[in-house]
Amino acid sequence: MVLTSVLEILDFRGLLLFIVAFLLVADYVKNRNPPNYPRGPFSLPLLGNVFNVDSKEPHIYLTKLGHAYNDIFSLRLGRDKVVFITGYKLVKEALVTQAENFLDRPYSPLQCRVYSGNAGLFFSNGEMWKKQRRFALSTLRNFGLGKKTMELTICEESRFLLDEIDKQKGGAFDPTILFNNAVSNIICQMVFGQRFDYADHQFRTMLKYISKSIQLEGSIWAQLYEAFPTIMKHLPGPHNDMFSNYKLLQAFVKEVVVKHKAELDPSEPRDYIDSFLIEIMKKPHETTDGFDEENIIPCVLDLFLAGTETTSTALCWGLIYLITYPEVQEKVQEEIDRVIGRSKEPSIADKANMPYTEAVIHEILRFGDIVPMNGLRMADKDTTLGESFIPKGTAILPILHSVLFDENEWETPYEFNPGHFLDKEGKFVRRDAFMPFSAGKRVCLGEQLARMELFLFFVTLFRKFRFSAAEGEKLNLDGVIGVTRTPHPFKIHATAR
Ligand code: HEM
Repeated sequence: MVLTSVLEILDFRGLLLFIVAFLLVADYVKNRNPPNYPRGPFSLPLLGNVFNVDSKEPHIYLTKLGHAYNDIFSLRLGRDKVVFITGYKLVKEALVTQAENFLDRPYSPLQCRVYSGNAGLFFSNGEMWKKQRRFALSTLRNFGLGKKTMELTICEESRFLLDEIDKQKGGAFDPTILFNNAVSNIICQMVFGQRFDYADHQFRTMLKYISKSIQLEGSIWAQLYEAFPTIMKHLPGPHNDMFSNYKLLQAFVKEVVVKHKAELDPSEPRDYIDSFLIEIMKKPHETTDGFDEENIIPCVLDLFLAGTETTSTALCWGLIYLITYPEVQEKVQEEIDRVIGRSKEPSIADKANMPYTEAVIHEILRFGDIVPMNGLRMADKDTTLGESFIPKGTAILPILHSVLFDENEWETPYEFNPGHFLDKEGKFVRRDAFMPFSAGKRVCLGEQLARMELFLFFVTLFRKFRFSAAEGEKLNLDGVIGVTRTPHPFKIHATAR
């Protein structure tokens, strides 16, 4: 009896040992690297390097690894290997010189749970991405992007924002949600055909879901989900909030789409949603183009999300830096008073005569490091980058932080210094390593809109108010890392000038 049990245990142990040995060998064979594949730190079998990455400051950890590995290295994050690229020269080589080789985004279990398969603008690939990107850009142009009408819309929204700030009567307040609402209203007018009042409770709730989801998407929880989707699907944790937030955001967008459908007049499209619905009606489309009712929600959601969080985060950093460096705030205000004055409406045309303000906005985008890690890309074919071989299908991540703080490109990378964008005569100068919107064919689709919004909101705010920190508050220049790098909650005073 005892002997049978011992034999059973031995059998069980033997079987277990065999399974473990088999898994280790299979893992080794599957993850063997081809010659000249980028090297990287030692990775654990099955787990890889997922727990090596500093989850609080991953962009800094990855940039430092870049220094150690000659700007190109690989990490294994669960099942998948990712090649990281750092420093201006190699990032430019990947995104611009070899743009065609790294155009697609890799498979993401997280994205696949939110929208199924090839969908939307950010995650779509191939023909669908090309058609949808072109359609989005031309439709946004039809509704004002890059034109005087857009300028007027932003100026009008700025007046609403000033009124809200006036209501604080000089008391301490956190401007984050107001900036979020103001910035979001610009993309909302082009996409949904309407702006939302700052007191609209439902819309404010949506903005909170957006902020929370973008933060979670860049967190360790999202990385764990990407690395081990089958296990994480069944585990409790904050990653589940991300999925429930997305469901609520999708339901919000769906309600707007249904209303648009009921009111649609094909001869007079009011916005992006109407234009998309009209495009669907123009059958026959190739199914691969993505002009169908399933794809309208991911496309709208991508514009709504990307068009809200990034630009308002940049504005928040702008306030924080100009409060921290009051001499910069004074110089900006002096230039605004001199070039625009107090009576006329600011306009994009003023930019050409405001090199200091333009340099400050560029430095906010550089030092603010709004999207520190960029979006993942994929090698569309076997490719050689630098000296390294990257096989077809490998995920790559060109780290934007490493470009915006590249010691070979910037005179004082770790200081807030508008002089980075000024020549000796005080004229504005462009810098090649200025890549907050990424670069190449898949560069941020909203760059032009974001730049217009930033200039007009920024100038309107600083013309009307002098900003200072709330009593006893020292503004924190460290950020919270998600997909975007956002400021910690902060409070300020706005005093009318
Ligand atoms: C300061 C503001 C902004 C920053 C720093 C920013 C940054 C970025 C970055 C780094 C990417 C990834 C590009 C890549 O993979 O190489 C991106 C993509 C994208 N952005 Fe922005 N963005 C901003 C504002 C906006 C706005 C206002 C919109 C709204 C129209 C927008 C829409 C998008 C879309 C749709 C993509 C995906 C493009 C594609 O995959 O083809 N962004 N953005």
